[in-house]
Amino acid sequence: MQSKRGRLDRFLSNHLGVKRKDVRLMLAKNRVVVDGVTAADIGLSIDEFSHIVLDNQRVLQVNKPVYIMLHKPVGVVSATKDDLHRTVIDLLERPDKATLHIVGRLDLNTSGLLLLTNDGRWSRQLTSPESKVTKSYKVTLKNSLAEPYIEAFAQGMYFSYEDITTEPAKLEIISEYVAHVNLTEGRYHQIKRMFGRFRNPVLQLHRMSIGCLSLDSTLLPGESRNLTPQEVESIHR
Ligand code: URA
Repeated sequence: MQSKRGRLDRFLSNHLGVKRKDVRLMLAKNRVVVDGVTAADIGLSIDEFSHIVLDNQRVLQVNKPVYIMLHKPVGVVSATKDDLHRTVIDLLERPDKATLHIVGRLDLNTSGLLLLTNDGRWSRQLTSPESKVTKSYKVTLKNSLAEPYIEAFAQGMYFSYEDITTEPAKLEIISEYVAHVNLTEGRYHQIKRMFGRFRNPVLQLHRMSIGCLSLDSTLLPGESRNLTPQEVESIHR
């Protein structure tokens, strides 16, 4: 999405209906905080995703950022356009849906928590390799699980195609055919390929959570809801 940049003083004077010199005074009195830092420069460049606080109150902008959690069903593609399959965007009924992008895709036959937003800064923080946000999956397998899987996932696996070794992953055996897996990265078909090392096909894959945000259990497959402001803030922790 194109970001709309502008000057802090212009935005505050329009938004609050005050003169620019009044905005200057607000800044001189340290009353304005932008993205967690007290604003000193009236010409500071902001956009619609800048977090602006005046006297400890969030100043909401017209072009509000949007953050959505969707319960992705199996058989729907994590893309904004597709010639063959229904897309996750097709599942949404909202006028602004064309402005949204997907934060960390799931395979066609994977279900579970999918995030969508129009805030590129937020999604980059979640998906950048440095952020190492934990994604938790429930995996149902064709063959029995065994203890050696735990060590192999924790050690990391070498994928020659990309010439990388996967980050340590936590595997917990829940029952004979069901495991929970925590990943801090998102390589192509990663979980299926990791179980592939044991020649154990994945029958079902479901993402349960991203960071500390779990899929809302009241959402049926295909349903979505806005994140609360607390969820938006908390997910990076
Ligand atoms: N690993 C996979 O193999 N597929 C997904 O959709 C997510 C993780």
